[in-house]
Amino acid sequence: MTQQLSATSIALKQAVFIGRDEDLEEAVRVSIMSKFQLERMDELPHVWPDSIDLVLVEYDGESKGILEKISQILTLSKGVSLYVLLKQKDADFIIEANHQGVQGFIECPNEIFHILSILHMQDRRRKGKNGNVSSLFSLKGGVGCTALATNIAAQISTMTENRTVLVDLNMPLGDTALYLNMENDRLYTITDFIYNLNRFDENLIYKSLSQHESGLYLLSLPSDIGELDNLNSEMIKTIISSLRKYFDHVVIDCSSDLSDVTLSCLDESDNIVLVTEPSLSSLRAVNAVIRLTQRLGYLQDSIKLIINRDTSNQDEMLEEVIDALEVDKVARVSNDYISFNESLKEGLLLKEFNPESKVNRQLNCIANMLHNGSINVEVKEDLQPIETKPWDEWLQLAKDMLKHLKSKVRQKTVGEAA
Ligand SMILES: Nc1ncnc2c1ncn2[C@@H]1O[C@H](COP(=O)(O)OP(=O)(O)OP(=O)(O)O)[C@@H](O)[C@H]1O
Ligand SMILES: [Mg+2]
Repeated sequence: MTQQLSATSIALKQAVFIGRDEDLEEAVRVSIMSKFQLERMDELPHVWPDSIDLVLVEYDGESKGILEKISQILTLSKGVSLYVLLKQKDADFIIEANHQGVQGFIECPNEIFHILSILHMQDRRRKGKNGNVSSLFSLKGGVGCTALATNIAAQISTMTENRTVLVDLNMPLGDTALYLNMENDRLYTITDFIYNLNRFDENLIYKSLSQHESGLYLLSLPSDIGELDNLNSEMIKTIISSLRKYFDHVVIDCSSDLSDVTLSCLDESDNIVLVTEPSLSSLRAVNAVIRLTQRLGYLQDSIKLIINRDTSNQDEMLEEVIDALEVDKVARVSNDYISFNESLKEGLLLKEFNPESKVNRQLNCIANMLHNGSINVEVKEDLQPIETKPWDEWLQLAKDMLKHLKSKVRQKTVGEAA
């Protein structure tokens, strides 16, 4: 059964905040609310509750007391996941806390709004996994794959502090350079990349890619189609595995076909993102791909569906068709001709062209879902954007959002009681 992503449909994990700074607590609460419910812990309990998945401890310079508390928590909980929110950098404290078994440090305020991303990547690396791979794919052309891949990759790039690469495999002529307004740049292509494949280290890999002014890296297709003749599925797998060693997220714009190259991308993907329009023919193509992924044994959890050009006055029959597709995670991107086409004409990303637009916020939720596994909170027209703002403005925004959420929960509870 299809399940629309919403804050109420999937249980949130439990996090606790230990500290005195209420503003910091609010900012943390908002930053992690798509995945964790945050509670304040003033006193340590005698018996540690099993339900706590994450502990966030504020560090304001009072080293001795905080180290003692950390030691008590880690002993009581037998090693809960504990991160320190550093309001001050203090090398001695960091070394000692590391020694005690703290899993990581989050610099405040710079890294606060990327907490989920930091937690997620550290968890993956600890388990020996490399960066995420998300492939955007549609069997039907023209549904918006490249527009979405480019803009979602740019959003993830911000979350990962530029450790994201967009790979254009929409052969033979990809459009990502066009969407990023980099067509006139001297671009490093897959051919250059393959040439360097056996010599990569941290420095060379970044030099073998082009970088957009937003910070997003791009691996583009060569303009000479003949250079693609030797590209085979093994090579694609090697390219992807080299990239994910150095990047936190690899986003691929796939071709609209089921060639070996496309199937290799899907094989390597943590997220297979099927893009469709709300039309019967496009949904039929999605259904065929879902059947194929089942036959190939892909994990159902990896399949995500984006209904692009979604209109608010939905056709009931189409909704039934979407509901019948066997995909658990369905996200929607509104039909917004002006934002998509004007941003393209001006050579800007959507987040630069119209950060406050509903479509940009929808793409932000999708980016969060793909990178952090967040539960997608439904985007409403009246919410303000979560873009880079001065710290105090951000806190105000965080408080407003919380108020909004609390009133929604209250309304829901009252509704259910009635
Ligand atoms: N949600 C949307 N609302 C309005 N226009 C959109 C939306 N998404 C994409 N578009 C527009 O649709 C057109 C096609 O998009 P895009 O090039 O991304 O499709 P594609 O699936 O990559 O096509 P191709 O098969 O040629 O690779 C573009 O003009 C793009 O700006
Ligand atoms: Mg395309």
